[in-house]
Amino acid sequence: MPPISRRNALLLGGLGVAGTVAGGAGLWWSLNSREPPVAGEALEQPTALSSAGGALEASLEAAPGLFLLAGRKAGALGYNGGIPGPTLRLRTGDVLRVRLVNKLAEPSNLHLHGLHVSPQGNGDNVFVTVESGSSFDYQYQLPAQQPPGLYWYHPHHHGRVADQVFAGLFGAIIVEDPAPPAVSSDRVLLVSDTTVDGTGNVAYPSLPERVAGREGTLVLVNGQANPRLVARPGERERWRIVNCCVARYLRLRLDGQRLQLLGMDSGRFPSPSDVQEVVLAPGNRAELLVTAAAGESVLRAVRYDRGSMPGMTGRGRRPGPPLGQDGPPDPYGTALATLVVTGEPVATATAAAAPAWPPPPDLRSAVVSARRQLVFATSMGAGAGPGMGMMDFTINGRNFDSGRADLTVAAGTVEEWTLVNRSPMDHPFHLHIWPMQPVAENGRTVETATLRDVVNVPANGQTTVRIAFRDFSGRSVYHCHILDHEDLGMMGVIEVR
Ligand code: C2O
Ligand code: CU
Ligand code: CU
Repeated sequence: MPPISRRNALLLGGLGVAGTVAGGAGLWWSLNSREPPVAGEALEQPTALSSAGGALEASLEAAPGLFLLAGRKAGALGYNGGIPGPTLRLRTGDVLRVRLVNKLAEPSNLHLHGLHVSPQGNGDNVFVTVESGSSFDYQYQLPAQQPPGLYWYHPHHHGRVADQVFAGLFGAIIVEDPAPPAVSSDRVLLVSDTTVDGTGNVAYPSLPERVAGREGTLVLVNGQANPRLVARPGERERWRIVNCCVARYLRLRLDGQRLQLLGMDSGRFPSPSDVQEVVLAPGNRAELLVTAAAGESVLRAVRYDRGSMPGMTGRGRRPGPPLGQDGPPDPYGTALATLVVTGEPVATATAAAAPAWPPPPDLRSAVVSARRQLVFATSMGAGAGPGMGMMDFTINGRNFDSGRADLTVAAGTVEEWTLVNRSPMDHPFHLHIWPMQPVAENGRTVETATLRDVVNVPANGQTTVRIAFRDFSGRSVYHCHILDHEDLGMMGVIEVR
């Protein structure tokens, strides 16, 4: 039975993409003849749309079509004809106006992940529904306190988020750094995963794959399979990496090169630190400084164990060795990109230290006006999930209901939330609008103040964060950023007033 065709007929809106109407024999034929991904092409950058004079007016058209994924045309979804969508380059204090044009065969909307903007009206309001065939004008005012850095955008229509992101709807947002470190190139690397089935369309996962959080067989950078980057010895580059995967954690390594972590999620760290690897949960971003050393190095995603549901056979189709099994770390992992460092070494002009960056106000010394506990659980048999009847994803015992306010917070206060995971798999916790400062993970104190918008809550563990509810009031959401879990209802509504 073709696992995909009905869903893709819906996603693709009867576009007539080759294969969506294939019968059993045709499907069998194409499943066995699909050509392998094309790897090793030069890394491409998404089109950039940059603000000028304090404003950016942009139009994002979400539409089905044939897109290049791993060098082959596939039936997928994209913004403005590409995967990824255009990169929006903004400055602190800018106004961003985006017309979202929905040419999908189903509802969608737009969310600016990580930006500190109003959740109300036509701002970053995930309760807005943009129906198929209609459009919506969003307007966002970036505050002066928006930390420069790397953010991203994606759809947020409840129940359809994982499918739409998996099919290609995502793009980067850069808030320009007023005093950037000197670099020879500044690159955006949007890491996504997807599966293209034998009919040449993005695949629809099974229910067990959604419960586990789907992981695609293709892990791509800017839609490309293991693209090549070329640098000269001694050059220093800035890599802005987003984990756009629906459920895959990325434990990244670039052995043989000097890696410095400049920041994660919101803003830069006061100074970059040398790292061997960096772990990005779905939704997280990292900014890296890479100082090139002669030779060839592969950016790899190595094994990360995020747990699994008992009795489930892992998290579905994935490349390389099975990641769901216990054992020593996989030394090879998945190749994401290859850095080729060759030619005349450059003088060390770009090796100057990155300009220092002020740390965010440390909320560990703030007055805490409320302490809350949010318990993440997955239960078999309760059957309260929409259309599930077998698996329920809850926060504090409840499945998502957009009509309810789960938490009411007084504007202007600081709260401490303890995120407790009572399930055997990690859940990356995401709060919209208001960044979080991690203060403890599994009882270990976090010493440095950083602003994060996705924090991992380890399987059967807990993470504590503090949040300053400053600047904006209104209704928004928090959820697990394994987007399948979000769609299955592991999400709550926060009302700040
Ligand atoms: Cu990146 Cu509520 O999402
Ligand atoms: Cu978000
Ligand atoms: Cu989850």
